[in-house]
Amino acid sequence: MGCNPRGSRLQVGVITLFAVLLLAGVARAAGNFYEDVDITWGDGRGKIVDDGKLLTLSLDRSSGSGFQSKNQYLYGRFDMQMKLVPGDSAGTIATFYLSSQGSQHDEIDFEFLGNASGEPYTVHTNVYSQGKGGREQQFRMWFDPTMDFHNYSVLWNPTRILFYVDGTAIREFKNREAIGVAFPRAQAMRVYASMWDAEEWATQGGRVRTDWSRAPFTASYRAFAANGCTSQDAAACGRSSSPWMYQELDGAAQDRLRQVQRDYMIYNYCTDTYRFPQGLPPECSAN
Ligand SMILES: *[C@@H]1O[C@H](CO)[C@@H](O)[C@H](O)[C@H]1NC(C)=O
Ligand SMILES: *[C@@H]1O[C@H](CO)[C@@H](O)[C@H](O)[C@H]1NC(C)=O
Repeated sequence: MGCNPRGSRLQVGVITLFAVLLLAGVARAAGNFYEDVDITWGDGRGKIVDDGKLLTLSLDRSSGSGFQSKNQYLYGRFDMQMKLVPGDSAGTIATFYLSSQGSQHDEIDFEFLGNASGEPYTVHTNVYSQGKGGREQQFRMWFDPTMDFHNYSVLWNPTRILFYVDGTAIREFKNREAIGVAFPRAQAMRVYASMWDAEEWATQGGRVRTDWSRAPFTASYRAFAANGCTSQDAAACGRSSSPWMYQELDGAAQDRLRQVQRDYMIYNYCTDTYRFPQGLPPECSAN
């Protein structure tokens, strides 16, 4: 609008340069498994099909299978659509999680514990910081996760970790370093997924075993999206290019989270006084 064209071209140039610098530490993976992940184990039981849009992981008596993201991230938002093993999936576990390496590793877990035919799946979540886990919360689902694909997301920033199911936050793990609780914030993580067997404990405490005559058990993954900082320097993720860095739950989302926890939570380490006779972990009373 009547402004100096040379000036505005210069401005565009500067803005573009600025945007490129901002994006330098940010990586996006968007839905092509050939480009975004490596199948790391399972000897052919993990398969990328449909031009990279679909990935299936199977489990039989001799092995499960799994994949990992090519990139490592320090903070980000990670989305996956999953369709779980239909029918009798007792003893089997499908996972979608983030983890760093080493004995003092950090980890953010979604695990889906199969069940006997017609019995509900359990969604198991956990957070490890500097090698210490034991922060399980488990949920039922409000839908049958074997009938169709559903969205499972992890959002991880310096102040909180959020677990989402179909866009609804079901769990928030806040940074409580102020009261001495370690929080994952220094180790980059990869995204992992796997299909494996844990018949000793996964289903109804191990009472219901895997029916191997039904193998292979197959879970499907699609629409993987990782928007995260790949640099060790989180400052490289500017506000405009990385909304996940500042994400919090608004009032309505907090209400929904409380409602889901009231209606669907089946285990919470924070109420397990039997397991923690010396007192519940400190983050449990900080709210
Ligand atoms: C999952 O997310 C995609 C993309 O945002 C959306 O189109 C789809 O409806 C979601 N699926 C469910 C079951 O919520
Ligand atoms: C399986 O179904 C039983 C019976 O409904 C339930 O008690 C259990 O929590 C379910 N999930 C697992 C993983 O065992």
